[in-house]
Amino acid sequence: MTRDWVQWHRAYDDPSSPLSQRRSAVGRLIRSALDAAAPGPITVVSLCAGDGRDLALGAADHPRVADLSGTLVELDPRLAADATVAMAGLSATIRVEVADAGDPDRFRHALPADLLLLCGIFGNISDDDIRRTIAAVPAMCRTGATVIWTRHRREPDLTPSIRAWFDAAGCESTGFVSPASGSFAIGCERVTVSSTAPMPTRLFGFLDDLW
Ligand SMILES: C[S@@+](CC[C@H](N)C(=O)[O-])C[C@H]1O[C@@H](n2cnc3c(N)ncnc32)[C@H](O)[C@@H]1O
Repeated sequence: MTRDWVQWHRAYDDPSSPLSQRRSAVGRLIRSALDAAAPGPITVVSLCAGDGRDLALGAADHPRVADLSGTLVELDPRLAADATVAMAGLSATIRVEVADAGDPDRFRHALPADLLLLCGIFGNISDDDIRRTIAAVPAMCRTGATVIWTRHRREPDLTPSIRAWFDAAGCESTGFVSPASGSFAIGCERVTVSSTAPMPTRLFGFLDDLW
């Protein structure tokens, strides 16, 4: 990993930046997912979680926050440390693990998820890796789980294909937020049936040459 993801996170310091707007929208979708969650424990898994503040924003003061537990997987130890601080502010039991989220063996123990966050991943990996990761979603989630994903919409806009791949994986779109073509997009999916199929040995790897 050669990109400086700590530097990338600095765009969140400006509340009017597109990235901050995206995070606010992700936070609202997380709150909606918690509003709709079935009674009982809610397991959250966030892959490539960064500083974890999307989850902190969405779950803070939510009436279901005490039902929330789970795992954030982040490769950069500095961001994982920030995420640990963010999770400590929640009345929830959330672990932050410094690990490669492209390797399912590194987070298999944290599954199945009721809420799966795939934010900031699909703009950084190949189309084949996106497709492979989406195909594995039903094996990562419980039936009825919510998946929140993001992707930029720079040309060629891949979001129609991404949405079709979620459909093909047996997910149902429950939301798609995008301020404009060329801007960011956030998708929200419901896993209609979980799967016991084995996950691939590798889901994805970040590519630096996409920037
Ligand atoms: C675009 S940022 C997204 C962060 C956060 N999810 C968000 O939306 O604000 C991508 C994050 O993925 C992390 N990352 C890159 N490759 C990874 C890998 N193989 N496993 C886990 N995290 C990885 C980076 O350190 C960075 O924090």
